[in-house]
Amino acid sequence: MRKPVIAGNWKMNMTCSQSRNYLSDFLPLVKDIPADRKIVLAPPFTAISTVANLINGNTVQLSSQNVHWEDNGAFTAEISPMMLIEHNVEYAIVGHSEPRKYFSESDEQINRRAISAQSHGLIPIVCVGESFEQRERGEAERVIRRQVEQGLEGTDLERLIVAYEPIWAIGTGKTCQAKEANRICGLIREWAASSHLIIQYGGSVKPTNIDEIMSMSDIDGVLVGGASLDPTGFARIANYKVD
Ligand code: PGA
Repeated sequence: MRKPVIAGNWKMNMTCSQSRNYLSDFLPLVKDIPADRKIVLAPPFTAISTVANLINGNTVQLSSQNVHWEDNGAFTAEISPMMLIEHNVEYAIVGHSEPRKYFSESDEQINRRAISAQSHGLIPIVCVGESFEQRERGEAERVIRRQVEQGLEGTDLERLIVAYEPIWAIGTGKTCQAKEANRICGLIREWAASSHLIIQYGGSVKPTNIDEIMSMSDIDGVLVGGASLDPTGFARIANYKVD
């Protein structure tokens, strides 16, 4: 049984005081959330401790937006798994298309991050997805397959999430059609050869399209950027309904 994971990636948004305000609106709206799903928030590093203290005892779990493969050392601007687990962080996003694009993260580095996260008990959320140009050229499946095979190599698929995030759908308002997202998620499951793998969709998920996305057979949750910044909207997403 794959339990859906609804994750909000705040990216480089939210100070500590904004996080406090957010949670005072958000937590009451998700306190009666059905037990068939998980809710995860990924604040910026500076707000992790604040959020960890406020969600304590609530149904919401915590993710980081990245994690390094070493426990400590001369890696300026990076964050170690040990620094995260100290704050009860349980997940770590790796390989998001933004660090892939702006900092040229490779599949090999992403794989090292995922392995290191797992070795410390964190569940990596490994993001994969094609660009608009790659899709236009008919290369989407080849690109995603490579990201899946290299990114997941040597990992335990029972303790890992894949997020399919077509780059052209991120922050653009253009959602991938639910059926097409479902088709790609089905292929990812085939390539990973795991019927237990949790596979999320990400890219312009909103309160208005969540119910359709969550009704798809191979989509086990969502990774939400922009729409997760609004506590009411994200609570609606977390409270998705499928017939
Ligand atoms: P978006 O971002 O929901 O703003 O499109 C998704 C993501 O980057 O994870």
